[in-house]
Amino acid sequence: MELEIVILAAGKGTRMGSKLPKVLHTIGGKPLLAHVIETANSLKPKKIIIIYGHGGEQVQQTIESSISKDISTKIQWIEQIQQQGTGHAVQMAAPFLNDQSNALVLYGDVPLTQSSTLKSLISNVNNESPLSLLTMILSNATGYGRILRDIDGKILGIVEQKDANPEQLEIREANTGILCAQAKQLKVWLDKLNNDNAQGEYYLTDIVGMAAEDGVNIKSEQPETIYEVEGVNDKKQLAELERCYQYEQANTLLLSGVTLMDPARIDIRGDLQIESDVSIDINVIFEGSVKIKSGSIIGPNCVIKNSSIGANTRIEANTLIEGSLIEDECSIGPFARVRPGTHVFKGGKLGNFVETKKAEIGEGSKVSHLSYIGDAKLGKDVNVGAGTITCNYDGVNKYLTEIEDEVFIGSNTSLIAPVKIGKKATTGAGSAINKDVDNEELAIARGKQRNISGWKRPEKKS
Ligand code: UD1
Ligand code: CA
Repeated sequence: MELEIVILAAGKGTRMGSKLPKVLHTIGGKPLLAHVIETANSLKPKKIIIIYGHGGEQVQQTIESSISKDISTKIQWIEQIQQQGTGHAVQMAAPFLNDQSNALVLYGDVPLTQSSTLKSLISNVNNESPLSLLTMILSNATGYGRILRDIDGKILGIVEQKDANPEQLEIREANTGILCAQAKQLKVWLDKLNNDNAQGEYYLTDIVGMAAEDGVNIKSEQPETIYEVEGVNDKKQLAELERCYQYEQANTLLLSGVTLMDPARIDIRGDLQIESDVSIDINVIFEGSVKIKSGSIIGPNCVIKNSSIGANTRIEANTLIEGSLIEDECSIGPFARVRPGTHVFKGGKLGNFVETKKAEIGEGSKVSHLSYIGDAKLGKDVNVGAGTITCNYDGVNKYLTEIEDEVFIGSNTSLIAPVKIGKKATTGAGSAINKDVDNEELAIARGKQRNISGWKRPEKKS
């Protein structure tokens, strides 16, 4: 049978204490709802129906931009203007469900469900058992719907916290909300829902009692870990699930042969691909798409975003790298700021307090201390002295600085772009260079030194 998935995401999320719609809050840098959609898509559904309510346009736009195009084409957005309960929400999707398919109901604010768990749940569903529930055993099930079973363990129904009697409140098996049913059957039960309960809502959970009355053999499945079915209702739960997620990612890295100095102090907000024998010190944040090749070392407190790091490269402490390509055997930092468009070729070095932007640093070239290299192209084996600045901006336009192979830039040189320094040329320390320098020339552009003999320091008046 084909699979169709309904994701309930119309809730307000008042307890988040935020203007942002709840399902747009992020875990691992990705909106909660995007996590659910990606998990849903991993089950290869025919379509994904999302029931949305609050912040409709913003939700759609943000989500479409954070998932791939081919997932987007499977999504059907349906607005639920008034949130009259989970049953009402699924009723809105019912006309769009194919009778011949299985329908899986997921929640937009339950981000970390494993697809293996859902696969087991779905595989329970067949003509003999057209309904399967995902339940969990909790030491304290307060707030959740409770699973009612007879003495043989047969499921009889679900009672919500607010409708439960004291005896039912003792039940520790709770409803996760996630369920799978044959669409044809589901529609029959949905048609019969009413809102005659403590909250005046149409409860999706009421279909379970109906199914039991129809003599249906209702199956159930449990997740491996509780966080898989935990929802986000407030910032505390969001923070807790973020830690679960990061912990899982860290474990995956460790098991693939990456060394983490402390798996509790790494944050991955995006897609990280690391080869084995890479070592990562504490408090490192990876954002977007990052690749690191074998043998490289990332020092503490680094932030690396949308960048590629080659093999056997060292990124020293407190370095920020964004939108850049660092090749093999390079040394970057400590305290370097590598901005978008930087390309450091093999064996290149950017030392402490060096900032680069749109800069090519040729093979073996070194910018070791306190420099700004922006809109620049450096050849091979260039040495840039401390305090050198490319003056790339005249307040209106930006210009290129070109430095050819084996050039030696003296300390504290201002390179006033556009300017070109020819092969093996040298600039004297403290020069302001605004004219091109030919190959092998020495360029000095600074005031001449005068020494005044017999000069006396001023003295304090008595
Ligand atoms: C629901 C279940 C409860 C279960 C719990 C697990 C029902 C009646 N109860 O309760 O048995 O233990 O989840 O967390 O189903 N939503 C809509 N439209 C609506 C109402 C809700 O889209 O009209 C969405 C919410 O955005 C949320 C989800 O459905 O993602 C669950 O809604 P919520 O109000 O949190 O349900 P609970 O009362 O927690
Ligand atoms: Ca809830």
